[in-house]
Formats: sequence, structure tokens, C-alpha cells
Amino acid sequence: MTEQEIKKEIRRLCDERDALLLAHNYQRDEVQEIADITGDSLGLSMEAANTDKQVIVFCGVHFMAESAAILAPQKTVLLPRADSGCPMADMVTAEGLRDLKRQHPDATVVTYVNSSAAVKAESDICCTSSNAVNVARSLETKKLLLVPDRNLGRYIASHLPDKECICWEGYCPTHDRLKVADIEQARADHPDALFMAHPECTPEILELADHICSTSGMYEYARSSEARKFIVGTEMGILYRLRKENPDKEFILPSQALICPNMKLTNLEDILRALQTLEPRITVAEEVRVRAKMALDRMLAVPRD
Ligand code: 13P
Ligand code: SF4
Repeated sequence: MTEQEIKKEIRRLCDERDALLLAHNYQRDEVQEIADITGDSLGLSMEAANTDKQVIVFCGVHFMAESAAILAPQKTVLLPRADSGCPMADMVTAEGLRDLKRQHPDATVVTYVNSSAAVKAESDICCTSSNAVNVARSLETKKLLLVPDRNLGRYIASHLPDKECICWEGYCPTHDRLKVADIEQARADHPDALFMAHPECTPEILELADHICSTSGMYEYARSSEARKFIVGTEMGILYRLRKENPDKEFILPSQALICPNMKLTNLEDILRALQTLEPRITVAEEVRVRAKMALDRMLAVPRD
């Protein structure tokens, strides 16, 4: 089959299966192109929960499909590549988190949505890269355990000097590869560009940023800013929509290392197979799901800025 034939067959099967095709902002261009909706990790899970469709094809990584299954348990959630994990989410286990909680029984656990359902189930509240500071600020407790991203954790802590923040030592290997020298070089090559960075970047990188935001925040910033050039401090998949939505603006990737291999696993053939077989299916044990959903629901109840 040609690429065009595969795309056509995917769309036909979406209708036949009553399926919604979701793609994260880091997915391959051709996957984003045929998706019904592209977005950030939590936004897509909420789309999954709110749609009338019965089948969700989640082009992203495992924890995202799990979040969809937590929020929409009555739906069939498919992850076209069962092996698309997230190394950062895998850096913390429920058992490891229980150990840390025993050492700090007076702390509130704030867990980034980039985590397994089992870890969410051990948490008091979740956060995303777009609401992390707001969520942490909304809590009355003085002591917080910030899990699993130490970079997002330090970013939160820098905004809340009154809180005692203990950060889990996890990190995103993709964002970690972005170095200060890369930004210095990009700034030297493009002195008129603004630098936007994802909070998964290291504190040294965030210090250099003009704007720090989630992937969806970057679309908004690029659209509303009067600047014409942007250095983009996140995974390269975001360039697809940034360039499509802003044809008169320039987007510069400061390092070729900004590629998440897991996000690039899913291809059109995988999506086609998932729709044909309704596999691989992601489910979450009910006992874990209910507790994980409480942490997500608490986050969703926090008023936005
Ligand atoms: P957001 O899309 O929530 O900003 O997350 C970035 C990320 O690393 C997802 O894996
Ligand atoms: Fe995980 Fe980082 Fe890849 Fe996102 S970009 S899926 S946090 S490894």
C-alpha cells in the first residue's frame, strides 16, 4: 500500500470502528497530519474522556494512553506501539514512592502526569507542565514531594520559596540533552530570536529562556508574540504545527539531539494495524484506576490562572 492508501484506510477504519485518533505534539509529522486532534499529554486524555467515540487510538507513549484509560474506563484505548514507554515515567515506581512517603509522612505528593497509573495512585495530586506551579501553590501543606521530574520540581520550587520541596531524581533524557552551549550558539546565530523552553529542561537552560511553558503553551506564545523568530527548547515534533500555524515565522531547533525515540516509534502501519485488530489495548486495574483518578480529579479542580 502507498502512504496515501494507508492514510485513506486509517480514516475509513476510524469511521467504521467509531474511533478517535489522537496524536501528541511530539509525534511524527505524518501521524499528526492524519490525527483528529493533536495536543499535550493531559489535553489529549481529556479529549478521550469527553468524546462520544467508543475507541481511542492514542499516538503517544504508554502513560498517556493510561491516563485516557483512567479518565475513560468504558472506552477501548489503543496504543499502536505497546513498546512506546517514557524513560522518565519509568524512573519512579509505586514501591519507591511509598518508601519516600514513609520518610516524609507530613508531605503532600505532587506527581507530574508523565508517570504510571500505579504512581499516580500513590499520589495526592497530579500536575502537568502547564499548571504545575498553580497546583503546588494551591496546597496548604508546607512540604511537597515533587515526582518524578527533578527539573520540573526545581522549577516549581523556584516559584514557591515558602515551601519545602523534595524532588525525585528523575528526568527526561531528551530534554536533558539540551546544553547551555547549544542555546549560546543558537542565540549567536539568531540574535533577534526569542527562546522558549519546556520546564523539563535543566535549570541552567531555563535560566536562559524568555518564556517557559508546556508544548501547548508554545503554540500560544508563538502565535501571540510579535517576534518573527523562535528558538525551540523541546522535542522536535512540535515544529510541525508551529511551522504550519505560523508560516511567516521562523522556528529554530537548537540541537539535533532533541528527539524522543519513543515518541517516534508509532508509524502509519502501526496505526492501521491497531485499528484492524483493536490491539494493543491499554487497561488499568480498577483498584489502581480509582485512586489514580482521584489525583487527576484533584488537579482538574484547581482553578486556572
Ligand atoms: P506536555 O505535552 O504535557 O508539555 O509534555 C511534554 C512531554 O514530555 C510529554 O512526554
Ligand atoms: Fe518521556 Fe521525555 Fe519522551 Fe516526553 S519527551 S515521552 S518525558 S522521554
